[in-house]
Amino acid sequence: MSSKNILITGGAGFIGSHVVRLFVKKYPEYRIINLDSLTYAGNLENLRDIENAPNYEFVRASILDMDALRQVFQQYSINGVIHLAAESHVDRSIHNPDEFAMTNIIGTIRLLKVAQTAWHGNMEDKMFYHISTDEVYGSIEDGYFTEETPIDPRSPYSASKASSDHFVVAFNNSYGLPSMVSRCSNNYGPYQFPEKLIPLMINNMVNKKPLPVYGKGENIRDWLYVEDHARAIDTIFHKGKSGEVYNIGGNNEWKNIDLVKMLCRIVDEKLNREPGTSASLITYVTDRPGHDLRYAIDASKVISETGWRPTTDFAEGLEKTVEWYLQNQQWLSHVTSGEYLKYYEKMYANR
Ligand code: NAD
Ligand code: TYD
Repeated sequence: MSSKNILITGGAGFIGSHVVRLFVKKYPEYRIINLDSLTYAGNLENLRDIENAPNYEFVRASILDMDALRQVFQQYSINGVIHLAAESHVDRSIHNPDEFAMTNIIGTIRLLKVAQTAWHGNMEDKMFYHISTDEVYGSIEDGYFTEETPIDPRSPYSASKASSDHFVVAFNNSYGLPSMVSRCSNNYGPYQFPEKLIPLMINNMVNKKPLPVYGKGENIRDWLYVEDHARAIDTIFHKGKSGEVYNIGGNNEWKNIDLVKMLCRIVDEKLNREPGTSASLITYVTDRPGHDLRYAIDASKVISETGWRPTTDFAEGLEKTVEWYLQNQQWLSHVTSGEYLKYYEKMYANR
């Protein structure tokens, strides 16, 4: 690509804000357009430090709104898309699957259609890069997910992401739309909405509220620091090949309960609390329905083909994350007010 006008969708969310920040700072010669509808999970406070950068534009619109998408493609001569906008929380998907189908499947199809139409007849310097999840592979007891592992989604969230992945491949195959998909393991770090495990636990520890561990806490996730994921997205966007899928992971598996105990120790230390104070808040609650036991990624393809690798050690990443949440209590109170709290109370009152 010569001149790059990159549309990043979902840039006001957790991972998207790190990707936007990285691209805006690293590539002053590119124009970065962040399109986000600002659902409960999108917050422009995540991007305060770069919002006045000359190479950055924010557009508040939904990926479901084709007129708005067409307008953005035309106005900014978009030649690259990095698509992160989605509904992203498994528990919410179990309560509201149709919203996930609407945003994650229909929204992705509409974005694909607008890109395909705008780029028709001149696909040469174009790229539609879709950000997906290891959850599309389902749950694995032994071994690792490779790019060849059959798709086997088990939750409404992962079913909607798997479907959107298939549509990206279908547009590549049927219309020649240059595209790539990457599937990453669980991310953690600053700006993650506190409904996900790590920020929820930190927030509850700070406020001395119960720490709800689902089931026996034996489910396993592979954790990756969000800035490592953002760097992987940068690397794949520039070095990846159209038509390919890339797995991204941290080679860093933890049982939920061990991870929560580690967080308890870090928080107690940072808040000068007696050791064991936070751990005493651990409460085993009713398991998530259909809870996937284990996700584990084999990231050898992206490592050998692009040179990317994770660089943040887990203990160091968790410590940085705890520090950030302790220092950003105002951010927390902003994002946890209003609608989110009502939802939170409804979800957790009966557990
Ligand atoms: P997030 O929920 O924090 O952010 C999602 C963003 O999308 C929000 O800013 C929201 O406002 C926006 N959005 C939602 N619906 C929209 C719509 N209709 N139009 C425009 N914007 C809309 O999510 P996240 O954790 O940052 O995840 C980003 C992407 O990465 C998702 O596609 C997710 O599936 C994928 N992913 C996440 C993880 C993870 O651990 N969080 C891991 C692998 C892949
Ligand atoms: P989550 O952060 O929701 O990510 P995902 O379900 O996409 O992996 O959850 C991570 C793990 O933590 C998952 O096994 C569910 C578990 N969990 C809890 O035990 N308690 C909680 O309050 C939450 C939100 C998650």
